[in-house]
Amino acid sequence: MRKLVIGLLTIVVLLACIPLALIATGTINSGSVRMILNVMTGMGGPPATATDVKQRFQLPPGFKLELYAADLPKARFLRFTPGGDLLLSRPHSGDIVLLRHDANGDGQPDAVMTLIDGLKRPFGMDFIGDTLYIAESNRIGKVAFDSARGKLAGKYKPVVEGFTDEGNHWSKTLRVGPDGLLYLAQGSTCNVCVEEDERRATMMRFQPDGSGAEIFATGLRNSVGFDWAPWDGGLYATDNGRDLLGDDFPPCELNLVEQGRFYGWPYYNGANLPDPDMGSDPLAKQHEPTAPVHGFRAHNAPLGMTFIDSSNWPRGYERAALVALHGSWNRSTPDGYKVVSLHWTDNGIEERDFLTGFNQDGDIAGRPVDVAQGPDGAIYISDDYAGAIYRVSYGDKGQNWQQSMETVAPVSRLDAETPAWLAEADLPEMAERGAQLYFYYDCAGCHEAGENPKTLAGLANRLGYNAIIDVLKSPQAPMPIFPLSDVERRELAVYLLYGGGAERTH
Ligand code: HEC
Repeated sequence: MRKLVIGLLTIVVLLACIPLALIATGTINSGSVRMILNVMTGMGGPPATATDVKQRFQLPPGFKLELYAADLPKARFLRFTPGGDLLLSRPHSGDIVLLRHDANGDGQPDAVMTLIDGLKRPFGMDFIGDTLYIAESNRIGKVAFDSARGKLAGKYKPVVEGFTDEGNHWSKTLRVGPDGLLYLAQGSTCNVCVEEDERRATMMRFQPDGSGAEIFATGLRNSVGFDWAPWDGGLYATDNGRDLLGDDFPPCELNLVEQGRFYGWPYYNGANLPDPDMGSDPLAKQHEPTAPVHGFRAHNAPLGMTFIDSSNWPRGYERAALVALHGSWNRSTPDGYKVVSLHWTDNGIEERDFLTGFNQDGDIAGRPVDVAQGPDGAIYISDDYAGAIYRVSYGDKGQNWQQSMETVAPVSRLDAETPAWLAEADLPEMAERGAQLYFYYDCAGCHEAGENPKTLAGLANRLGYNAIIDVLKSPQAPMPIFPLSDVERRELAVYLLYGGGAERTH
């Protein structure tokens, strides 16, 4: 314990010296010194302005950037509600802000209001149906939510309590998995050490009622962002590499997180290189460390990530995620400070610049934290330094929420023509098998039962065969990805549209 305290003190002293040393040696300019000092003293930077946003940033051709909302100091994580409003967590003020969707099309939220406050450093948020789950630094809580009105519809209740939150990485990220379970990532207390609380530096998993706690994966120093690949359900998480081993080591990581695996921290860095401060891994025989699937540059600090639906985007984003690189604070030349796209290709994962301009030769104007895709297909990016949310849209599509909601409106999702596989004679038998699948996978559990079922009544007015097959292929959380074959997806679609499945549910 004493060793730990001395270690922590040394780190604090060392960190405090960095900006001073850098100013003295003239290695970085005043913009980044201001940034480092602001970050260390807990102050934000100058607020973002619309002019800045027009002049400063770069995006790939065809994309457009707007300042969606400003005056939101310490803006951290984002999540869209089922009703299309945007939630923003602000751990430092203990609140979650709701940005009402832009129905009037002026490029800004129609209202910005505090949804809930008095929480302890709330960070991650997600929904199961109309229940909002919130990860505070010491517990998970839930509250009923009225998606249409964008209001709470009940009392906030704890679901899991007793997490520790001391030390460096107190924030907890929460997401609902395709399996309907709660996934919680929590970072380490320290830069590099052996944790007393074995839940730190792990990803955990719980039932929605908080029972069945299990440590899902270990050795994750600080996995702030994670998401499931829509094409195969793989769970990918960003992870911040340790500090104080120089400017260029170790890489920050993207891990493919699988149950029971150990991702190296504190004994291994990057591609399982032993850590110079830790000595050998006492569990080396049981611990086969899993190497990252992608390395970000050292100290870039990848935070939020999201896989994107690129239906209205140019080619090249089919299997892609966006990741916010918050940017280095202890590297002699600032690095990161941008949003990158990751592309899953035959040759592995490629990283490309997406939104740059936060850092202009060391003059820092912002630090991206999280990325979320709206129901309008646009990308929303939070910035805790400029206290802003930016909106990135492509082409003419998704100019504003209303237009784009119209483009995905029911009618356009009905099949224009009969799918080629659909033969009248097969329908009864297909519907019969679809009904069995519906029963086997307990679709009714979410679509017919409970307080607030996601009813499939009247589905035929909203979705055609192809749209239903798309939903089954890449459902929105919390609807799970089921291991269905193409034929089985067709059978379910037939059951829902033709076989009376959607009529039964009301
Ligand atoms: C864990 C809960 C859950 C289960 C199980 C589930 N769903 Fe869903 N499903 C949802 C939710 C939630 C949505 C709405 C997602 C959204 O907001 O877009 C949804 C949406 C849908 C939609 C689109 C509805 C619309 O109006 O756009 C269809 C179709 C659908 N589900 C079919 C199924 C079928 C078939 C099964 C079983 C194989 C199933 N679901 C199992 C939760 C579930």
